[in-house]
Amino acid sequence: MHQSQHIQEAKDYILSRTGAITPVIGLILGSGLGGLADEIEQATVIPYVEIPHFATSAAVGHANELVIGQLMGQTVVAMKGRLHYYEGFTLDEVTFPVRIMKALGVDKLIVTNACGAVNTSFAPGELMIITDHINLVMNNPLIGPNNPELGTRFPDLSQTYHPEMREIALRVAAKQGTSLQQGVYAWWTGPAYETPAEIRMIRTLGADAVGMSTVPEAIVAVHGGMKVLGISCLTNMACGILDQPLSHDEVIEVAAKVRTTFVDLIKGILQEV
Ligand code: 6GU
Repeated sequence: MHQSQHIQEAKDYILSRTGAITPVIGLILGSGLGGLADEIEQATVIPYVEIPHFATSAAVGHANELVIGQLMGQTVVAMKGRLHYYEGFTLDEVTFPVRIMKALGVDKLIVTNACGAVNTSFAPGELMIITDHINLVMNNPLIGPNNPELGTRFPDLSQTYHPEMREIALRVAAKQGTSLQQGVYAWWTGPAYETPAEIRMIRTLGADAVGMSTVPEAIVAVHGGMKVLGISCLTNMACGILDQPLSHDEVIEVAAKVRTTFVDLIKGILQEV
């Protein structure tokens, strides 16, 4: 199947660069967190453009590099900068890196993002463990012929965000004195933020936060049998909650402020998983 061949070619290229190194944990680093990839030791850094069939993002504040090496005693592969659906990529392109991670040997995926708080008891700058998601995009990365080598036709999403991984995150946060929110993440295409009416709808539907990423990667990871942990930085209250307009600058600014706490949390989790 053509999908398998693309995966094989990308995998072969990456292995030609890393030698025998096979990562077991994948990291998808969203807005503001790319710097964590710079802490990876004995790193092989591969720009996405060099990897066969990989797409490259133009989003502001995102690098486009795959970094493979050692972090907190674990062999990891990190995406420094992710691909977003709103950039015009197909969901196949958005999730191709997850397929590659799986092919390289990754069985646990930690996905991070910056998102808006829909739950009015949340505050900007807080971190949230994703307990579940709502796919408001009504598109799915698994649409199309199913390749049984990659996963089952009808994957179960009842434990998309793995309970053990969430438990570990909560334990590490408690140890570090970091308070964590927990909640449901709604996936919105963007790039425009939601309207106030849409945020009321999203809250009514049961979401606590809203963002423009993470869900397609999580679905493909579960399809491939990976354990997923999703952590969001609530960079701002969603539209209509506060009497002020949203700005991407604010998102970047708050993400930068929380960065150290967020990075420490992920490093702590890496020691425990
Ligand atoms: Cl309010 N909405 C979405 N969709 N993404 C965001 C956000 C809001 N804030 C940061 N990222």
